[in-house]
Parts: sequence; C-alpha cells; structure tokens
Amino acid sequence: MKLYREKNPLVFTIFGASGDLAKIKIFPALYALAEQKRFPKEFYIYGFSRSKITHEEFRKSVRKSVQNKSENPIDEKLLENLLKKVYYFSGLYDNSESFEKFSMEIMKRTNNKKITNIAYLAVPPIVFEPIVELLSGIKKKIGQDLRLIIEKPFGHDEESAEKLYHHVSTFFDLEKVYLLDHYLGKDQVQSLLVLRYSNSILNTLLNGKLISNIQITASEDLSVANRISYFDQVGIIKDMIQSHLLQLLALLTMELPVSQEAKSIHREKYAVLSALKLRGYDKGIVVGQHESYKKIKGVKQESTTPTFAGVRLFIDRQEWYHVPIYIRTGKMLKKKHTYVVVEFEKLPFQKNKKDVDTNKLIIELQPDAKLHLKLFTKHGGIKSELHDLTTSESIACYGDDCLPEHGRLFVDVFKEDHSNFLSFEEIIATWRFTDKILKFIKKKNIKPSVYKDYSDGPKEQHILTDNDNLEWLEVDLQKNE
Ligand code: BG6
Repeated sequence: MKLYREKNPLVFTIFGASGDLAKIKIFPALYALAEQKRFPKEFYIYGFSRSKITHEEFRKSVRKSVQNKSENPIDEKLLENLLKKVYYFSGLYDNSESFEKFSMEIMKRTNNKKITNIAYLAVPPIVFEPIVELLSGIKKKIGQDLRLIIEKPFGHDEESAEKLYHHVSTFFDLEKVYLLDHYLGKDQVQSLLVLRYSNSILNTLLNGKLISNIQITASEDLSVANRISYFDQVGIIKDMIQSHLLQLLALLTMELPVSQEAKSIHREKYAVLSALKLRGYDKGIVVGQHESYKKIKGVKQESTTPTFAGVRLFIDRQEWYHVPIYIRTGKMLKKKHTYVVVEFEKLPFQKNKKDVDTNKLIIELQPDAKLHLKLFTKHGGIKSELHDLTTSESIACYGDDCLPEHGRLFVDVFKEDHSNFLSFEEIIATWRFTDKILKFIKKKNIKPSVYKDYSDGPKEQHILTDNDNLEWLEVDLQKNE
C-alpha cells in the first residue's frame, strides 16, 4: 500500500523544542514519519527555543529522545539521515527581531522556494499569543502556506478560550489552524468512528433509548512530579476531563455525521458538548487527592488540587436525556487503564429482577485496545444456567502504517484534513461545562478526599453511581482475555 506523503518541500518548526513534550512525543513521532517515508524529498525540521544551543547539540537531544522513547527498534542509519535535516534556532517567543531573523534563515535554507510551513506549538499557553502574532507577521516571507498546530490546553476557562479564538482568528485563517488533542490521534479512538460508520448494528445500539448508563474511566498509575508547576495549577478536571474524556464521550454519543468531513464531525460533536449538564449537583461531583501528592516538590501543604475526579452528567438531548454518564479519572491509581462501558437497559419485564445481568459494550483503549460485547446464553441441559458469551476483538493498529498519536495527526496536517482535530466551538463548549463543575466545587468548598497511592481512588466515587442504583463496572482485563 502506498502511504500518503507530503509532496511540497516542507519546513516543520517545533516551538518549545527543548521542552518535555517535544522530547517525549514529538521527536519520536517525526522519526516514525521518516521511517514510513512520509516526508517529501526536501524537508527541514527546525527546533525553535530560548536555550542557546548549537545545531549539533540540538541533534544530540533529538537522537537521545528518539532512542529512548520510540516504540520500535531504531534504524541508526535512518536516524542519522533524519538528523541531517534537523536544525536549531535560538530565539525569543515574543520578540519580532527573533522572528525576522528566523524567516531570513528559512528563506536562505529553502532558496525562497514554494514550501509548506508547519509550525507546532509545544510551549506553555502563556506564549501562544505572541507566537501566533509574530508568526503571522513573517507569513509573507516564508510562504503563505503556513499551517499552525496548537496542542491543548486551549485556555484555562471559557473566557480565555474565547480570547484565544479571537486572537488566533485575527492572525490566521482557521482553515490553516489545527487544534490538537492527542487522544484523537490514538488509533483506538479513531476506531470508534470507523466502528460506528461500518456497523449499523453497533451504531443502532448507541442510542440513549436503549442505554442504561455510560461510564468512562481513565486511570493512571503515575503522578505528575515532572510537570507539577503546570498540574498543581490546573488539576485533573481541566487536565483530563475538559478535553480528552469529553471528546471520547462526544464521539460515542453524537449523531453519526452523514459525511465524514471535518465540518460535519465538528458540528455533531458540538451538538453533544454544548448540551452537557450536571443534574443534582451535590451528588454529581467527587474529587480526591492521592496520599503522597503533597510530598511532591513544589506542592504546598494547603494544596487542594484534585488528582482524582468523578463526575455524573447528562446530555440534554431528547434521546439521551435520562441516561446518566459517569466519568472518573485519577493519577497514582492501581493501574493504567482507559475504558468505556456502555451498559444497556434490561428488557421491560426484567427491569426489577436483580439477578438478571445486563448486556454491555466495553471499549478498552489502553493499555490493550479491545472491543468486548457482553452477551449471555444458556448453559446446556435442563437447568438453564446463564453463560457469559462475551466476544472480544482487538481494535489495536497492526500493519506497516501504524504511527504514534502525534505522527498520525501530523499526516492529517500534511493532508489538510481537520477531522481529527477540534473546533474552537467545541473547545469553548467544553470549557463552559468545565467551569460549571469548578464553580460548584468552589462554591460548596468541596475538598478532595485523600486516597491511598496505587489504590482504586477515593471510596466517595461510589456515591455517584449508588444514587442511581447502579455501580461502577470494573473491567477486569484477565477475565476478558
Ligand atoms: C495529557 C495530560 O494531556 O494526557 C496528562 O496532560 C496525562 O496529565 C496524559 O497523563 C494522558 O495521556 P495518555 O495518552 O497517556 O492517556
């Protein structure tokens, strides 16, 4: 199979090239793209950062990051060839002179050819605005085809997200802007839409009238020590729920867009995200903090930053109106496990029978990518004991064209395909909802319950489901093998 590759000469610039995100995710993703020959014949990768280092020192850090973080074994020759295309520019993010000099450097390097420029912002949000403005100032020189990738967080509340939207749209045509949430680059997450599009059975089942409740769990077995200055300010609700987990929810519950074009997908996701509601607030929000959080360097003793959150919410749309949706996520829990459970209603005459189990659709995203459909059948003979007939299928990527999340999304940017990126409307809607959660926590002065490191999280999480006579469904990997 022929893989898509960018055709025009390309300059790919990483702003914030000496940061963790670049080292952990971006350099390995660029190597994976080189491995699959996704770059055009002529391309240049630029690191732009404040540190004063040489091209050679920068190449060394790229090499180290690729060697440490790549998922596949490294082809050293390929890596050396890639490094020959890697350059470094030391500049300030808010200084027009730096950008002028940078544009001269690019023009010299590319001989003023018609090129595609991709600028990827791996920087703290505080410098998004000057970079966007100064980049737009050099657009004329480095070429009009300047595509901008901004990675979450897009603001810190509804107001700042709106401000960012106005700022970005003042300087860039939004067709050239790619708002990246790496969850949408996960193959397993992209499979959700494919599964819905290709299976009318599955898509028909994803209807609020047939569903008792939906549960989304994203547990992590690590804390946040190396990113504490960011995390302690935002907490888990902004960090995980506002974008990643609400996006998952939207992909699952939106009307299936008739066309797979980005605009249609964004419209349907927005319809869900703008209809999110908390009901019975008091019983709908639980927060926790893991036991050793305050021992992390930089965390104040009085910190109330949640490292765990559980939220019960609803979608104010006719077909979903009565379906409770539970989302929980936490750091420093027993294991890394991300999964969605869709629990179906019992048949009308079984409603009050406690011993009747329900059918479930379980979508495991990490560490295994699997789809399970829990059905039941009779176990032979006269005594009709029910027997679990769960079918499980892998939804993991296999083959030669699998890429890490950022790699997949960069290919979409090459193709100018926005369908796996966010729209500002979605972002603003999810902030509006997130702000409500946070406002309520503040108003009621809800303090996080402390939970043990490597545990299941605070026991209060069960209040969310108990109130609906339901319970969290723990998905046991072993049982579903
Ligand atoms: C990031 C958050 O966006 O996503 C991190 O800032 C979190 O705190 C990470 O750990 C989770 O991503 P993944 O792909 O490991 O589930």
